[in-house]
Amino acid sequence: MVATALTAIAGASNLDELKEVRIEHVGDRSPIAKANQSLGQMEVAARAEFGKVVGKGRGLVASAFEARQSVLEAERDARVLIEERVDVSITAKRTPQGGLHPLTILTNEICDLFLGLGYRVAEGPELEAEWLNFDALNIPADHPARTMQDTFFIEPLESHLVLRTHTSPVQMRTMLEEKPPIYVICPGRTYRADELDATHTPVFSQVEGLVIDRGITMADLKGTLDYFARSIFGPDVKTRLRPSFFPFTEPSAEVDFFFNGRWVEWGGCGMVNPKVLRAAGIDPDEFSGFAFGMGLERTLMVRHGITDMHDIVEGDIRFTQNFGSGLR
Ligand code: DAH
Repeated sequence: MVATALTAIAGASNLDELKEVRIEHVGDRSPIAKANQSLGQMEVAARAEFGKVVGKGRGLVASAFEARQSVLEAERDARVLIEERVDVSITAKRTPQGGLHPLTILTNEICDLFLGLGYRVAEGPELEAEWLNFDALNIPADHPARTMQDTFFIEPLESHLVLRTHTSPVQMRTMLEEKPPIYVICPGRTYRADELDATHTPVFSQVEGLVIDRGITMADLKGTLDYFARSIFGPDVKTRLRPSFFPFTEPSAEVDFFFNGRWVEWGGCGMVNPKVLRAAGIDPDEFSGFAFGMGLERTLMVRHGITDMHDIVEGDIRFTQNFGSGLR
């Protein structure tokens, strides 16, 4: 029995076969196990002697079985490692991931930083009432900016609709809808009758800031613009205000920033004109405020050294890819 079992164990060429061998020659129903069970019915003297023989035989079979089992397991493991190998270095086929336009990325960045200062994002329509785009902002009827040259008027002219020439009408919309204190940042698309060239585009983007509260001064404006510039251009950037004129602010200034060795014009700003506050139903004796507005294309071009506006407008992904996806 032992010899048969050992031959069968040695002959098992894989773990499945070995399992069959186990049932037949090693397990509870095998002849050896039965021989062991039969010890109980033997006379005491014979039992001792026969028990030794059976015990030795079972021992031989069991260790031969275990030895064979480890050999076959090792073989199987080695085979599986080769057969089921995964080549982790293989280049996968990836669908290119889309991304945001660099202007959108910049807009999100600006909104984020002002949200951090407690501002709210406000938006207005691109097709705007002429009154909100001009009159409400104290821009007189004979102001040159109103002429057909700069402004896209919408037909019929009696509709008095224009493609907004700046984001400043969102100031007035906000003041008409809300009571101070007001802290808003208003990004958006704007339009002017310009030819597309290296530095101009008829469709462009601005961001407008507006603060109306008690005791707001030009120092608050200057500090906010400094913080804004440092967040966008880095901690070393400097800003300066130059006296200027805008009908909706008094006093008014142009804000410039010093970056990469030169002063760059950034946008307009000033203290909201009391006439504008009054037009919005806000008492200028109780509240004061500041406003600013700048072009986003210019901001992006200077920060990234972009020299041709076409790159921003055309949307060629070989250009936009350099800015990352902007997805968070
Ligand atoms: N709206 C002006 C423009 O488009 C820029 C501007 C100037 C915005 C002064 C302001 C401001 O809010 O206070 O040129």
